[in-house]
Amino acid sequence: MSHYFDVDPSVVSDPRRVRLVLPDLVLDLTTDRGVFARDGVDPGTKLLLMEAPLPPAQGHLLDLGCGYGPVAVTLGRRSPGATVWAVDVNRRALTLTAANAEAAGVGNVRAVAPEAVPDDVVFAGLWSNPPVRVGKVALQSLLQRWLDRLAPEGHAWLVVHKHLGADSLARWLGSQGFPTERLRSRMGYRILQVDARA
Ligand SMILES: C[S@@+](CC[C@H](N)C(=O)[O-])C[C@H]1O[C@@H](n2cnc3c(N)ncnc32)[C@H](O)[C@@H]1O
Repeated sequence: MSHYFDVDPSVVSDPRRVRLVLPDLVLDLTTDRGVFARDGVDPGTKLLLMEAPLPPAQGHLLDLGCGYGPVAVTLGRRSPGATVWAVDVNRRALTLTAANAEAAGVGNVRAVAPEAVPDDVVFAGLWSNPPVRVGKVALQSLLQRWLDRLAPEGHAWLVVHKHLGADSLARWLGSQGFPTERLRSRMGYRILQVDARA
């Protein structure tokens, strides 16, 4: 069975154009089979990009689980002075993100495998529509790993559907020492704001 988080999706490529329309920008992006949200911009992703605060103008920003890059390219466009790290395990997704950034004229996105982010990079902000389908233990370990790389004053914004465990995830994050609040709740999606661990 094929998953959107396979390293090399086995399904035959069949690229498709999708349009991301936000109040401040419009992006035409290419997605593909074997990648999350092949049929159009995920409503949770769009909500995240509409509701989370604007990214800092500078510093290192992280799109955790970038897929074809709607979050990373938006961050890069909104903060041209920042460096946007777009990480994913899916190589087809990384190729799409790099191509989408280039096509949009956004030159500050680095689409790389997670292990290619240098260890000394500290993030001013983290955005993610996280891969809930990898399972609870893997998701928790993934979030802990990257949230621990937030700068002391940094924040993360996560979008998770309530039917996929948003509320229990928020409680778990709090129990691990990451102050977490529900910033918005709409269409069943929660936007969680997570602060760096004290
Ligand atoms: C729900 S999708 C979101 C994709 C994209 N950000 C969007 O909003 O359309 C989650 C992404 O996380 C990626 N992912 C899964 N495991 C990962 C890991 N260990 N490290 C980084 N990314 C991972 C998946 O391949 C997938 O592209």
